[in-house]
Amino acid sequence: MSYTYTTVIERGGTGKTTTSAFIWHELNRRGFKTLAVDYDPQMNLSLYAGVKMADNSIYDAITGDKPVGSCIYTTKYGDIIPGARALATIPANPDATPTMLKKALKPVQKEYQYIVIDTARGLDLNPLNALMASDAVVIPAGADTFTIDGIIETLETVQAVQKQNKGLRVAGILLTRYKKTKTAEHIAEYVRNVIGPENNVAVFNTPIRESVKVTDAQARLMSLMDYAPKSPQALDYLAFIDDLLNQGGRNNE
Ligand SMILES: Nc1ncnc2c1ncn2[C@@H]1O[C@H](COP(=O)(O)OP(=O)(O)O)[C@@H](O)[C@H]1O
Ligand SMILES: [Mg+2]
Repeated sequence: MSYTYTTVIERGGTGKTTTSAFIWHELNRRGFKTLAVDYDPQMNLSLYAGVKMADNSIYDAITGDKPVGSCIYTTKYGDIIPGARALATIPANPDATPTMLKKALKPVQKEYQYIVIDTARGLDLNPLNALMASDAVVIPAGADTFTIDGIIETLETVQAVQKQNKGLRVAGILLTRYKKTKTAEHIAEYVRNVIGPENNVAVFNTPIRESVKVTDAQARLMSLMDYAPKSPQALDYLAFIDDLLNQGGRNNE
């Protein structure tokens, strides 16, 4: 059975897709069969994977229009189920439920060691579906003032979902797009010393530093490990993956 990670935070632009992509690329590179699911109507992960606007998408799988197996695309960095613009209509769909994604992924869980779900900003029915389908949550957070609010709201939502999905845990808060400014250092300390301990949530040791290497790799549709394996950002992300895997989670390794 696969172990499922979701990157989620109420705010946009905090590095969710970048982090989802790195987890997906790196777990596959380390030999773990890992499926990415782009559960965001913006389809940024699909674009990065070169499968944006594919014929079959996660929307087709959750609505039961197509078998989930037919929605999987194989790329050089691993398998992915693309997103679709129609996902934006899900919160307004009277037939939509918080467990549609979980049900849709069930048939493929035996085939993958890990699944990584990339979510949209906000905390509507789409991220709720991702949380219901997941074992662990990574909260990518920028070190800026508004992000603190975003982390707290996200943690409250996770706690509410944990009443239904009892196995769901927070793997941790990951500081992303980190620049060594006084404000960023102050906020990082606050996240580490106050938000984490008060909510009983881990904060990953290494913040992911900001660099154009990350955006350049994305522009070339290359993984960061292919494009700039020795960059500080690749090293930061590798340290994060080590910490993530050291937490365990999967029971059949
Ligand atoms: N460590 C980083 N250094 C530089 N740019 C980054 C970094 N992480 C993310 N970005 C850029 O910031 C923007 C938002 O990141 P993204 O992963 O798309 O966030 P989200 O999915 O939360 O909206 C993107 O343009 C991405 O390329
Ligand atoms: Mg995104």
